[in-house]
Amino acid sequence: MIRESMNRGDFPILEEKVYNRPLVYLDNAATTQKPLQVLDSLREGYLHYNANIHRGVHHLSQVATSRHEAARQRTADFIGAASAAEILFTKGTTDSINMLAFSFGEAFVGAGDEIIVSGLEHHSNIVPWQMLCQRKHATLRVIPLREDLTLDLEAFESLINAHTRLVSVAHVSNALGIINPISDIIRIAHSRNIPVCIDGAQSAARMPIDVQALGCDFYVCSAHKMYGPTGLGVLYGKEQWLNQLPPAQGGGEMIEHVRWEHTTYNTLPYKFEAGTPDFIGSVAFAAALDYIDSAGREKIMQHEQQLSAYAEEQLGQIEGVRVYAAGQTKAGVVSFNVYNPATQQLIHPFDVGTLLDRQGVAVRTGHHCAEPLMDHLGIPGTVRASFALYNTTEEIDIFTTALRKAAAMLE
Ligand code: ALA
Repeated sequence: MIRESMNRGDFPILEEKVYNRPLVYLDNAATTQKPLQVLDSLREGYLHYNANIHRGVHHLSQVATSRHEAARQRTADFIGAASAAEILFTKGTTDSINMLAFSFGEAFVGAGDEIIVSGLEHHSNIVPWQMLCQRKHATLRVIPLREDLTLDLEAFESLINAHTRLVSVAHVSNALGIINPISDIIRIAHSRNIPVCIDGAQSAARMPIDVQALGCDFYVCSAHKMYGPTGLGVLYGKEQWLNQLPPAQGGGEMIEHVRWEHTTYNTLPYKFEAGTPDFIGSVAFAAALDYIDSAGREKIMQHEQQLSAYAEEQLGQIEGVRVYAAGQTKAGVVSFNVYNPATQQLIHPFDVGTLLDRQGVAVRTGHHCAEPLMDHLGIPGTVRASFALYNTTEEIDIFTTALRKAAAMLE
């Protein structure tokens, strides 16, 4: 049993008290806490090299530019991209998918075409594609789920046809922690010449990613779920794709020349980066990537999986608790509901979450931005505990003790 966390001392926020009780932070799939190394980087940036990038001949601007571009290269190395030109900085995963849906849609999607997503997706990997389909009179197709909530790959194969333009799936389900077989999905799609976008929001901080080995055409993730600053994300695209896509936004660094008659666009990656980018955040993100790599992604994953296996085991001993996708090899997420043992009535996840909160335990409750999945399960939502490298089994003991109390009060 792991009583020790990895590097807990780097996260001062974990010493906070909530309602006079020690904070037990189990909402890491929503956002992770930030280590001192990342906070120091943000402070250093604003203290020592805050100047707009790519614009000034002056010293500070040049320092900021070179730090920002080094962060881009660090990001490329972290996910195994062939070049830094394939890394576009965005505001986050949602922004990345919206940009991709717009740009890809403008270039490659027309009336009668089809986009495929899966039944496990977050709204951010559903709604931008729905908006595109509406705009272009295209159709969104959905990979159905098997009984055990994993993706039905045979059904996926049969969804692909001459009208399919792109497949976009999550690497890890944010709501349930299920790890999707993305290598198989990419292999199947590529065998029919269909490009694939992987939503790595829940995988990038814990699973080694090599976009070239995987072969995915696009990959997206968010810094704030990776121990990095909020408001920053990544859209990776293979250079040959990005070169074919139009920019989604105009202004700032994305131009080559602007004339009243005609504007020409910058080269990659700048063509897609309108406006002043978060050049302090990108450097802090690189510090977060260094932090993750010094802890080791395999080790982080192993630690979180041990915690979730322990949590599932403890939850299994509480009468009335049903864990979704129980017993499967998942990322560090446990999603469950509590049912009244006498009446079998669902106790609303908000009520459970509120009583956990009063005991200092932070979990997420609700539909987790995955309403179609909740509809499939026939529930309004779940209670979700999600783990990070700093969590401990002691915290899970506090959480399950608090849950027993909450359940007893609500039954
Ligand atoms: N996507 C985030 C979550 O799953 C916000 O909680």
